[in-house]
Amino acid sequence: MQKIFLIFIFITFFATMLSGKNEMNVFDQLIPLPKEIQPGTGTFKINKTTKIIADQRAKLAAELLASELQNRFGILLSLETAPSTTPSEKNCIYFEWRVDLTQEEQHRLEITSNRVTIQAGSLSGFFMAVHTLRQMLPLKGNRIVLPAVAIHDWPDFHWRGMLWDVGRHFFTKDEVKKYIQLLSYYKINKLHWHLTEDQGWRIEIKKYPKLTEIGAWRIEQNGTRYGGFYTQDEIREVVQFAQAHGIEIIPEIEMPGHATAALAAYPEISCTGGPFEVANSWGVFDDVYCAGKEKTFTFLENVLDEVLALFPGVYVHIGGDECPKTRWSQCPDCQQHIKANNLRDEAELQSYFIRRIETYLNSKARRLIGWDEILEGGLAPNATVQVWRDWNYAVEAIKQGHDVIMSPTSHCYFDASPERLTLENVYTFYPVPPELPDSSIKHILGGEFNLWSESIFNLEDLNYRVFPRALAMTENLWNGKTKAPYTEFLKRAKNHYPILRAQKVNPGPEGPVYSVQYAVTKDAYQVLIEEKQPGLAYHFTLDGSKPTQTSPKIQAHQLTFSTAKALRIQPFQDSAPYGPETGISSGFVNHKARGANVTFINSVNPKYPGTGPNNLTDGIRGSLNFHDGFWQGIEGQDLIATVELNQVETIERISLGMLHTPNAWIFFPTMVIFEISEDGQNYSLLGTVLNEFSYRENKSLIHSFTLQTKPVEARYLRITARNIMMNPSWHRSPDGLSWLFFDELVVE
Ligand code: ACM
Ligand code: ZN
Repeated sequence: MQKIFLIFIFITFFATMLSGKNEMNVFDQLIPLPKEIQPGTGTFKINKTTKIIADQRAKLAAELLASELQNRFGILLSLETAPSTTPSEKNCIYFEWRVDLTQEEQHRLEITSNRVTIQAGSLSGFFMAVHTLRQMLPLKGNRIVLPAVAIHDWPDFHWRGMLWDVGRHFFTKDEVKKYIQLLSYYKINKLHWHLTEDQGWRIEIKKYPKLTEIGAWRIEQNGTRYGGFYTQDEIREVVQFAQAHGIEIIPEIEMPGHATAALAAYPEISCTGGPFEVANSWGVFDDVYCAGKEKTFTFLENVLDEVLALFPGVYVHIGGDECPKTRWSQCPDCQQHIKANNLRDEAELQSYFIRRIETYLNSKARRLIGWDEILEGGLAPNATVQVWRDWNYAVEAIKQGHDVIMSPTSHCYFDASPERLTLENVYTFYPVPPELPDSSIKHILGGEFNLWSESIFNLEDLNYRVFPRALAMTENLWNGKTKAPYTEFLKRAKNHYPILRAQKVNPGPEGPVYSVQYAVTKDAYQVLIEEKQPGLAYHFTLDGSKPTQTSPKIQAHQLTFSTAKALRIQPFQDSAPYGPETGISSGFVNHKARGANVTFINSVNPKYPGTGPNNLTDGIRGSLNFHDGFWQGIEGQDLIATVELNQVETIERISLGMLHTPNAWIFFPTMVIFEISEDGQNYSLLGTVLNEFSYRENKSLIHSFTLQTKPVEARYLRITARNIMMNPSWHRSPDGLSWLFFDELVVE
């Protein structure tokens, strides 16, 4: 394994000498790195008269090369079918079918001053050679000069995928096509398209129009309507585009869980009959497809019939993860089904469900993939298991003779911020559990990186999470244990930043970049940036507009201001946005207690410290997102806080902002008690505000518990918010301790 890398070092050195010091060596930008590269002498120039001569079986790959040359350089090469013997022509790009290159994706790419020869024994091999050529094309200018080289290459793992959740946030057909182009460029050959979720059904099914009339749309917590879906024509267009790039799309139709959007449209295939609304919060929901009703299976088979007609690949993903058994255990139909089929429990009912769907798919010559939960209650006989929770599930599935795709949360959940899952972490990934014998490695098909989209709202959010980490993942899966050391990979990856930026894709950070501290005084807000990566420029706005490179720059890592509509800060690297924005959009509020000291009787939970001890009086309100860093939380206790104002103040109005998010075990208090004092010892009651909301309100709300009073003078305040202590009886976890979340204490 060392040897190949040493050869690489040697040839890069050699090739760098040949190409001259100032010119970047094209082999320094190949990702994944080909296994065998032998630089030659001379160059091949592609011009208008260059012909592409391709074996019929390489046609799609040859067309991709032709269209890339046309799109990037405006030259339209003639594309001819290869004769049965090697053509004698020079100045051509020749795709030659070779029976001796037996492995899928294996190929040779030879560039001499006379011609380019691509040899493979599979269409996938031709595609991979074309992707290598695409990476060797110059970024700028219109002179297409390729250095002479002989490359022989093949991947260690043939399944190199990206999961894209378009359920939580929807992405358009054109955005998906843009990504297909990008992924194929890096030899990522599978797009796992997660098309159905609790929060949205995204694929038109002609037999069940309500799936998209109702299921594709949700009412967000702020009251706006959100959604979208792909028509079948659009799906066909995307599938064809993927085929033209050598990518297979694996559709995922989730079952039996994560089905709220479908149940909102067709409640009769649930256990309770509904009604349901398309979910507008994240999590795992109790209402799932009823496993005891025949009409559920009729529905799913009809849906799958239309899905299979759209997606020609062999594999279909049916989810199978995170299916609570709460409803099944109460449902007469499900219980009857357990009895009638001699099943032991609800886990076996899930297994029955998946097996039945697998039988259906197998009867149509398709293969089922499911998340590792499909091991529960017994694996369906031919299923491929996608592992996400624990590597042991891979070992278990392989022991039972099944194939496995690896996307463990430890390395593959790219929805995690680059600060938490760094590029270097990702680069340590090797998809084979260490305890697996070599004879079983063939069952590890490869891996996927997953983009769950709860916090991915648009393409910019996606871009910085996918890149550069996808480059590490494709390298991991292509070269496995023979890959280059991280520092060498990082250099190559950085060579791709300008390439990506030229395609309007801003790669994100490789790891932690900075942290922000907020401080507040009676008169001003102060922002301090602590740099973890030098050389970035921080531009900001205070009026709510998007920061650009022409927005003012934070000087010396410090910013002070007295008021703002919103604070938005964007780091830039090499004139391009670098990673996510940070800032405060939920609102600044100036008031008489701003900057005052707060003391708590019951401690704030360290997981939710807000902006610090004086979060309650920091002049910044929390948003509907309890994780936004501006809320403090206390679990299973009352909030009792005293506040020392900066001076004696006249008070006419006092309010305490509270959050209610039952999914996260956060509930409004039953009441808020306001007391005042002159000396901080003896308090008198100013007033009590009772909660007016129903505890059954199962959505996120912010409410200010507000007391209006005749003017009084005080130096000290005491605030008590009474916790309901336990989650209500209807809650998914009725025995759980409930939380109070509070911010901001506004004194006027
Ligand atoms: C998953 O992340 N629930 C597969
Ligand atoms: Zn049921």
